[in-house]
Amino acid sequence: MTALCQRERKQMDKIIIEGGGRLEGEVGISGSKNAALPIMAAMILTAGKNTINRVPQVLDVTTMLHLLDDLGGYTEEFEGGRIIFDSTDINNYEAPYELVSKMRASCLVLGPLLARLGKAKVSLPGGCAIGARPLDLHIRGLEAMGAKIRLEQGYIYGEAKRLRGVRYYFDTVSVTGTANLMMAATLADGETTLENVAKEPEIVFLANILNQCGAKIKGHGTDFLIIKGVQSLKPINCDILPDRIETGTYMIASAITSGNVKITNCLPQQVEALTMKLRQAGLIVEEAERSLRVISNGQFKGVDITTHPHPGFATDLQAQFMALMAIAEGQSIILETVFENRFMHAAELKRMGANITIQGRTAVVAGVKQLSGAPLMATDLRASASLVLAALAAKGQSKISRVYHIDRGYSAIEQKLYMLGAKIFREK
Ligand code: UD1
Repeated sequence: MTALCQRERKQMDKIIIEGGGRLEGEVGISGSKNAALPIMAAMILTAGKNTINRVPQVLDVTTMLHLLDDLGGYTEEFEGGRIIFDSTDINNYEAPYELVSKMRASCLVLGPLLARLGKAKVSLPGGCAIGARPLDLHIRGLEAMGAKIRLEQGYIYGEAKRLRGVRYYFDTVSVTGTANLMMAATLADGETTLENVAKEPEIVFLANILNQCGAKIKGHGTDFLIIKGVQSLKPINCDILPDRIETGTYMIASAITSGNVKITNCLPQQVEALTMKLRQAGLIVEEAERSLRVISNGQFKGVDITTHPHPGFATDLQAQFMALMAIAEGQSIILETVFENRFMHAAELKRMGANITIQGRTAVVAGVKQLSGAPLMATDLRASASLVLAALAAKGQSKISRVYHIDRGYSAIEQKLYMLGAKIFREK
């Protein structure tokens, strides 16, 4: 079955949760979706057999593989979290609308295609539920590197005999923008300096893996990247790092259900901003080298958060944190600085009895004693996680529709929560 067929089927699925139970036990974290997608796009830069382990079994990964196969590559294996992909024959340079519109991160193939084939035709993703999310920074950077770019009939057409090294400043910190230009620069002629780049762990990881393949990247994890172009890269062989957003989501799941959950196979230093806020709210967070435990007695107070690029509080955890604050003691002010429209979940939380006032990019959440279950609609990936969390804590039953959003980024979420004691099942 194609990824698109799977998605159409999953559009009908619903997740049903009987709330009010306590979560207890251990949950293992999957590989990071946002690390896997750029690494998969980076396979375009290589010609040979790539092996990636610990890839999460989520819809976005399937969509990216579908796209890479369309480009002329060959997926030899995708099972048990391992991808073996032969990139030798990549020769098609089009990322069609039907795939890009389903997953914005498809735009990650733009830089690699230009670097490898000298040509790219990538659909513009359009707006999405959380904001306009343009690609202007990606496009301007590639133009600065000598690519001729035109926008026509909803597509970005790019051409460049060989990209050349430049100095480029990002007006806004962009994660996929940084990944795209960094990948393009690995095979460019000369040295590229990228300023005001993203410092997300997934970017640092991508740089490290590209360096293992022969790239010459310095500065990852700081605001500057210096990339010396090379002639070719060896195929990728790596294990994807744990998903910090999934880690944070299970931390909040324990907190919101008066739980005691050990989260294993994770990197606690990647969720420090959340850990600090949970502690500030009065929750217990125990950290070990590769695990975390969150202990909650159901009593926690409202704390304020402001989202920022890494190492600040992740925008991808804002919706889940809002669900927690909905039943905190007192008030919480949530300021979203990364995306202009990332409070879609608030309306659904309000239907469960939450007291939330939105003004522009600020949400004021006045904690209530309890939420009540309701029929709910997922609007985007992280918003749907926030509804699952709220439903776990709520009294009565919730039925969440449009769960394909959650399937894009959370591996086996209902199985994992079920093993922790949640009353959760999927209606097909
Ligand atoms: C990535 C993550 C996503 C996360 C986001 C912010 C992946 C696959 N996705 O998305 O989960 O929510 O980072 O941490 O890693 N912008 C522009 N012009 C551009 C590019 C971005 O104005 O050309 C703006 C965006 O509209 C947004 C801000 O920059 O307001 C940050 O977006 P960006 O970091 O690019 O998000 P993504 O890389 O798409």
